[in-house]
Amino acid sequence: MRRCVFLLALLACGDTRESKPADAHAKFVGAMDAAEAESNSILQDLKNKRGQESVVRRLDLVRRNLQSAEAVRIRKDPAEHEEMSRYFATFYAKLDQMRQADWTGEDGPRLWDKLQFQCSVCHGRFRE
Ligand code: HEC
Repeated sequence: MRRCVFLLALLACGDTRESKPADAHAKFVGAMDAAEAESNSILQDLKNKRGQESVVRRLDLVRRNLQSAEAVRIRKDPAEHEEMSRYFATFYAKLDQMRQADWTGEDGPRLWDKLQFQCSVCHGRFRE
């Protein structure tokens, strides 16, 4: 029991501290992984003909996950941070366009490829 209380105290402590770089990095990649999972589910939705509404909901989740990643401020160098912010902004603008497109027809798989391409634009510049 005493050990349990000690562990809880440690957790409470962890919450109030500034996040360490390693924590920030874990948050960033966690959000990226979540975005990828949603994106892969879109492909499943297309196969299972789940309809436009389901795809749009997932596109919104992709956006929310990327916003969580962006909030981490993974690049400390101000110029690099600025540049990455521009890549995020471009990605959101493309996502808005894709949200308007009709995913239910023959174009669905092509739109999904376009989405992957938009991810890779930023990865090509920033992913080591
Ligand atoms: C504005 C930039 C940017 C955009 C847009 C972006 N990513 Fe990333 N992503 C990164 C960076 C930077 C990393 C590398 C993080 C690291 O490991 O330091 C990364 C890493 C990843 C990883 C690896 C995470 C891990 O477990 O190591 C996945 C998966 C991923 N991104 C998925 C996606 C998907 C899917 C999209 C599009 C829906 C996307 N990303 C869009 C910047 C971006």
